[in-house]
Amino acid sequence: MLNTEILDTLLRLLDEAKASGEHEPSAMNLATVDSSGRVSSRIVLLKGVDERGLRFYTNYQSDKGSQLDAHPQVALCIHWKQVREGVQVRVEGAARKLQAEESDAYFASRARLSQIGAWASLQSQTLPDRDTFEQRVARYEHEFEGREVTRPPHWGGYVVEPDMLEFRLHERVRWSRHGQTWTSRLLYP
Ligand SMILES: Cc1cc2nc3c(=O)[nH]c(=O)nc-3n(C[C@H](O)[C@H](O)[C@H](O)COP(=O)(O)O)c2cc1C
Repeated sequence: MLNTEILDTLLRLLDEAKASGEHEPSAMNLATVDSSGRVSSRIVLLKGVDERGLRFYTNYQSDKGSQLDAHPQVALCIHWKQVREGVQVRVEGAARKLQAEESDAYFASRARLSQIGAWASLQSQTLPDRDTFEQRVARYEHEFEGREVTRPPHWGGYVVEPDMLEFRLHERVRWSRHGQTWTSRLLYP
């Protein structure tokens, strides 16, 4: 669980990023590790923050999904160029799947085209050609014609439960969690 000071700092910086005209204020780098120890990273969107941690949504059968099954430990990194002359936030912790109801609620709020895309995209698998994807989109548009698009079971959210957060503002502040207790210290730049 994040403490109030950490949560407030994170939410305030996110608000500042949204207000500052950052192009993708919710974009964050997500690094995962596979079963052989190989690291990979990609951008995902931060879709919510609360005392549990930071939430993002994806395809559970994607490469990152398989990596998270093998190793829940992740690292996140956010760079807000326009906030206070450049802010970096680093987060480390375990990614846990959200409860189905929470993923359902978020999925229901998405644009219909994104919902269809979640069914049509075999994220991370080889796509033989563009037409194949378009045919899959058409297939699911047909399947869900005239009714609500339900959440695919292979698509949903994770919450990253931090055990380390670092805010690099005018100084580097590192928060570490030991059990449920958070302590902070400064680090050399
Ligand atoms: C700005 C931006 C935002 C993205 N947001 C997400 C996201 O929220 N969820 C997601 O699964 N992929 C997102 N992607 C795509 C991922 O970067 C990545 O290509 C995809 O998830 C497949 O990753 P994987 O093969 O390592 O699993 C985003 C890409 C960009 C450039």
